[in-house]
Amino acid sequence: MAISKVGVLGCGLMGSGIAQVAAMAGYPTVVKEVSEEFLKKGMTGIDKSLAKFAEKQTITPEKRTETLERLKGTTKFEDLADCDIVIEAITENLPVKRETFAAIDKIVKPGAIFASNTSSLVITEMITATRRADRFIGMHFFNPVPLMKLVEVVATVMTAPAVMDEAMKFAVSLGKVPIRTTDRSGFIVNRLLVPYLLDAIRALEEGAGSVEDIDKGMKLGCGYPMGPFTLLDFVGLETTLYIANIMFEEFREKRFAPPPLLKRLVAAGHHGKKTGRGFYDYSDPANPRALF
Ligand code: CAA
Repeated sequence: MAISKVGVLGCGLMGSGIAQVAAMAGYPTVVKEVSEEFLKKGMTGIDKSLAKFAEKQTITPEKRTETLERLKGTTKFEDLADCDIVIEAITENLPVKRETFAAIDKIVKPGAIFASNTSSLVITEMITATRRADRFIGMHFFNPVPLMKLVEVVATVMTAPAVMDEAMKFAVSLGKVPIRTTDRSGFIVNRLLVPYLLDAIRALEEGAGSVEDIDKGMKLGCGYPMGPFTLLDFVGLETTLYIANIMFEEFREKRFAPPPLLKRLVAAGHHGKKTGRGFYDYSDPANPRALF
């Protein structure tokens, strides 16, 4: 069951990153989007990321060209037919994911592994839309995918141990460091990260400190690469709220309950870096200005 060709569903932030690292690792890679417009946007992002690596001499100009040559963008499920693994990174919506997996289950060769990059949805609930329960796993990458080393490889109660081993090997071949986990909302990292981020918002609400001081505190006091508010704005406040709600629903524990300020910012459309405003104002992107 060796993996020699990779399929990726979705060419957004995560899908484009996953397709990029697969192609950089030498795999012929097909990435499927719903429209030419979305595909073009994702491919432009990949091109920019490769240009950045080439500029910093992390990769050679030849590797940049070869990587782009290995990548094929498509809007047709049929182009995924002969892939050995298909990694899904589409919208975080269970019915849409089930529908998509049911569609590709009929097209992609029976031996292929299916993987979801979901960060919080229940993988077992996607599997039942297909006929390959033993060959279905989670592969949760981190943003930005080309830079972040970690992949959480998720086993469900139905996953064959050999499929987990293959997925772990595949993640290593992508230059990543995989860790094994099980199908519980949040897996390992979000199980710990989400309560921490929500608690930072509660600390702000309680007046423990300003956005800037809490960020400085965690960066310089704990050696984290980003303070919690910078990371919240980077991940996206609507994404954090969505994940927190799913985790609260799963565990019914207060530490996963989204605090009011997070809900209000999302209601106001202040989703963080991508909308230009969250806990910081990004009018001058080089100098974000703390708002609280
Ligand atoms: N491709 C190529 N280069 C990229 C890039 C990409 N996709 N994204 C950023 N870079 C470049 C930057 O442009 C920058 O280049 P310059 O030095 O020329 O400016 C370089 O990489 C490094 O960036 P920084 O100078 O900001 O350096 P850094 O040491 O801070 O590294 C970082 C950046 C890796 C993002 C680091 O800040 C970090 O680890 N942050 C935490 C990120 C994190 O926690 N991610 C997980 C989010 S949670 C998640 O994804 C899961 C979920 O389910 C929500």
